Amino acid sequence: MTATKGLEGIVAATTSVSSIVDGVLTYRGYDIDDLADNATFEEVVYLLWYGSLPSHSELAQLKAELSASAAVPAPVIDILRLFPANTPTMAVLRTAVSSLALYDPEAEDMSKEANLHKAIRLQAQIPTIIAAFTRLREGNAPVSPKEGASIAENFLYMLTGVDPDPVAVKALDKALVLHADHELNASTFAGRVTVATLSDIYSGVTSAVGALKGPLHGGANEAVMNMLEEIGSIDHIDDYIRGKLDRREKLMGFGHRVYKGGDPRAKHLQKMSYELGKSTGNLKWYDMSVKIEGLVTGLKGLRPNVDFYSASVYTTLGIPRDLFTPIFAISRCSGWTAHILEQYENNRIIRPRAEYVGQADQKYIPVDFR
Ligand code: ACO
Repeated sequence: MTATKGLEGIVAATTSVSSIVDGVLTYRGYDIDDLADNATFEEVVYLLWYGSLPSHSELAQLKAELSASAAVPAPVIDILRLFPANTPTMAVLRTAVSSLALYDPEAEDMSKEANLHKAIRLQAQIPTIIAAFTRLREGNAPVSPKEGASIAENFLYMLTGVDPDPVAVKALDKALVLHADHELNASTFAGRVTVATLSDIYSGVTSAVGALKGPLHGGANEAVMNMLEEIGSIDHIDDYIRGKLDRREKLMGFGHRVYKGGDPRAKHLQKMSYELGKSTGNLKWYDMSVKIEGLVTGLKGLRPNVDFYSASVYTTLGIPRDLFTPIFAISRCSGWTAHILEQYENNRIIRPRAEYVGQADQKYIPVDFR
């Protein structure tokens, strides 16, 4: 038995939710470019869960269900009040998602219908949790969800209590479309492994949130903004990047396990970063990002991934940095739950093997003689 480090190239599941073939990402067979330019996030959620784009009435029903489910059980808001204000929001989200199960009467109901209800609740309540904690840590009362608003609009509304700018809503909605699913990425795999033991969907999504948090996965978007701020100005880029590469340190927002010729989502976020920067009269982060991209691609052949330009997009939208990865979770919840539902449909426990490289032929020695 020989291990493949990082499971690179291993095909560990079949899926009809999304695919990456020759650098092209599709959700249920629809090219991400097509969806990014035309679909709303709610249409994508429907597509991922039910396998086809919704009719008018199907979309209206899903939106109504999401809106009706957006309020979080009061005890979950109460536990958010107990957390230290400086806790990373992803750590808060991991615990809060787990706690949602305690107040859901269908938590242990493994019927397909109940699992769909839970997917709707998770999708609707994750934004509410993130917005509520953000307000609580600043000493403000949480804002109740706005009835009938889209997930993007409602999230921005719940952060401030003020109706958001439609340009910001549109930008966030597109970012949600772009992050919704991505084949067998680390967090989705974590979620599938968990539910493949026939554990519940809350356990699966809790595992997925924990995996997304890491800087090699979803946490990279926050790390990119840290890097941009650390560099400080366009004149310092050259020294900073060359220094990092000389020290063989990772540059956040670059590289990808699957895409070697470039991440198809990055160009959409780059365009958004430019347009938002132009409209707000602040192209600093965009200009710096473009220069960094040119240098890193030239020196190392690495291309930006989805996290690179999302950092400047969210910053320009005025979103606090430690909400970047939670926003990724709002979006990816749709993909996680679609994969979890798919796993339940055709389940087999996921239990690979390991190549043992430890000591052999050890004999027990009583503790007095060690
Ligand atoms: N900066 C510098 N060098 C890099 C980077 C990077 N961002 N990414 C890859 N490399 C180099 C590695 O050092 C390695 O070089 P070597 O062969 O000379 O040792 C080579 O490219 C291969 O890289 P691996 O780390 O082995 O690639 P892997 O497929 O295991 O990792 C990953 C992929 C985790 C995305 C990696 O590129 C990385 O750490 N990127 C930075 C973090 C990041 O942006 N993560 C978000 C990914 S997208 C997402 O999850 C949403």
